[in-house]
Amino acid sequence: MTSKEIRQSFLDFMASKGHQVVPSAPMVIKDDPTLMFTNAGMNPWKGIILGNDPIKYPRVADSQKCLRVSGKHNDLEEVGHDTYHHTMFEMLGNWSFGDYFKKEAIDFAWEYIVDVLKIDPANLYATVFEGSPEEGLSRDDEAASIWAKHLPADHIINGNKHDNFWEMGDTGPCGPCSEIHVDSRPAEERAKVSGRELVNKDHPQVIEIWNIVFMQYNRKADGSLEPLAKKVIDTGMGFERLVRTIQGKTSNYDTDVFQPMLKKIGAICGCEYGKDEKTDVAMRVIADHIRTIAFAITDGQLPSNEKAGYVIRRILRRAVRYGYTFLGMRSAFLFQLVPQLIEDLGEAYPELVKQQAQITPVIKSEEEAFLRTLDKGIGLLDKLMDEARKAGKTEISGVDVFTLKDTYGFPLDLTELILRENGFATNEEEYNKALEHQKSMGREANKQDLGDWTVLAEGETEFVGYDELNVECRILRYRQVSQKGKSFYQVVLDKTPFYAEMGGEVGDTGTLYLQNSAVSYQIIDTKRENGLPVHIMTELPQELTADGSKLIAKVDAERRQAIACNHSATHILHYALREVLGKHVEQKGSLVTPESLRFDFSHFQKVTPEELRKVEMLANQLIRQDIRLEESRHTPIAEAKAMGAMALFGEKYGVCLQQDVSVLYVLSWKPALRPEFVVLRLSLAQKLTNYTMVCKIFSTICGIYSITLLIWRAQS
Ligand code: ALA
Repeated sequence: MTSKEIRQSFLDFMASKGHQVVPSAPMVIKDDPTLMFTNAGMNPWKGIILGNDPIKYPRVADSQKCLRVSGKHNDLEEVGHDTYHHTMFEMLGNWSFGDYFKKEAIDFAWEYIVDVLKIDPANLYATVFEGSPEEGLSRDDEAASIWAKHLPADHIINGNKHDNFWEMGDTGPCGPCSEIHVDSRPAEERAKVSGRELVNKDHPQVIEIWNIVFMQYNRKADGSLEPLAKKVIDTGMGFERLVRTIQGKTSNYDTDVFQPMLKKIGAICGCEYGKDEKTDVAMRVIADHIRTIAFAITDGQLPSNEKAGYVIRRILRRAVRYGYTFLGMRSAFLFQLVPQLIEDLGEAYPELVKQQAQITPVIKSEEEAFLRTLDKGIGLLDKLMDEARKAGKTEISGVDVFTLKDTYGFPLDLTELILRENGFATNEEEYNKALEHQKSMGREANKQDLGDWTVLAEGETEFVGYDELNVECRILRYRQVSQKGKSFYQVVLDKTPFYAEMGGEVGDTGTLYLQNSAVSYQIIDTKRENGLPVHIMTELPQELTADGSKLIAKVDAERRQAIACNHSATHILHYALREVLGKHVEQKGSLVTPESLRFDFSHFQKVTPEELRKVEMLANQLIRQDIRLEESRHTPIAEAKAMGAMALFGEKYGVCLQQDVSVLYVLSWKPALRPEFVVLRLSLAQKLTNYTMVCKIFSTICGIYSITLLIWRAQS
């Protein structure tokens, strides 16, 4: 079977077992402070697993784009050097939300890999959780007895907490798991040493292919485990490893997932895979990293100097550096690999095809900028070595080497290589001291201490901020958080007019006070955490949290109006840019504050002053048209689509559309507007998530525009 056939066969199999097959969610995560990238197939379902979001389908399956390069799950250093870890990989997964549990999950997995894919059961091993006295958890006898129906006793192996208790991160959903391992060694080797001895021992031919997690707990900030309301099955199978097993290869890179790309790299860089280990490592790094880079950009994460953007920039630079050092590439080449990637993965992930025109120039310009950095770094290093030579030294200061890396972005291993080649060394102790100093400054700046929630009442937040700015409400829960020496409260309300920060639009500010009281307390920001609108307050007196306290939440209306205007203006700008520069212009990110807005997009070349002028004129014309606000609610989704709803920010929103989205609430609507004005976003509208909103533009009083919102919600 080809890799494409294998991917499809998994989805078909799960569909035949009653699973709703959904497209992959984006790999880039924007609304969860604990995660920058999707690191497991279950991430998009976190809200459902924790019981915050309604269950739309009790059984789902997909092939999810995952990235493991930061936080709890980080494989970056292994990539390229071994043959079975990746930065970006595809995870085939099936989920049951409160529907089937251990028996069916194990039976489905067995049926798929043994009956459908015909993997020889003699080469399979299953692990089960051995229990953990300090957590108060006993051995997973239930899973073991289900496995015993399929496997002989010596193929069922106990595993410890590290291997057989899966956790998403330091906090969040978790539970015991069973992993399926496959022994792909030749028969002679298998006869000498049993596969049982090699499971979970980093043997490159005895590897885990499928993890079946029995999610039963939520790990809280204090380390304790809280049982989940509904038990969940969360499975993840490494697609590239599965393909390698089915295709009988000893390396993921020898399968048809990577071979065409390796050939392409060979053609561009003038080398051949399989001839020299150093070249091979570099080629594997590049073949792996181009996937991460292209998918990250596709999903809206451009390389930058901050957070997730910096992670992507570093990966891109790692690829350029391996090309530079080991393949002699002195000019940009990664961008030329995009067409091959599209050939390999465009069918399974059509967003890649759609974004090709954006991905290519972004990669090219990043590569060129980094190659300039490399040239500059080499110049600086030459100068340092010259000075040292003149002073009769053979050592370069560790602080200088650190500055080269930290300030100029020049890679350390390259510095070391060049120094060695020229007979120099650096002072490692000085270097480590400078590094440690910088790290401890970073740690202090980022440390966040999250308290546990104090729950005053159960329930969900109702968002009413499109109609009201001032409502009566109660606190559902709150917790204290400390960061950078400051302490503040996060407060969740049963009803709120406060719009939580989303998609670059800053959150509302305002006040919270006891009904009929003259004393009010500031809400300094509103953030979104796993779909929950969370109000940030510096003070939370007892009168507000007392049982039965009736409160008023009041948004700073003037500030909200200014933000709404700037939000509308991003849509106007988007429209004008598409008219002037072309339809490839899509919003890549934006910042909307009361004072100003920022709009990110990519274009093949520098925007000329004439084009900018045209964009300005068009945007101002639209504002002056002062289009009237009209209101009608409940418009069927088909009608909205026919009006040309356009999805932004990747296909996560597409998932919503394909599911049972049926009622469209139209807050304001003017059918005569051109389709380009219609923008689609996922929003917290009435309840928590699962709402999609179409924002349409605008205008109330001359010069002041307000936004038109069409909201539709998924039926639960
Ligand atoms: N969430 C599980 C994993 O990523 C399936 O291994």
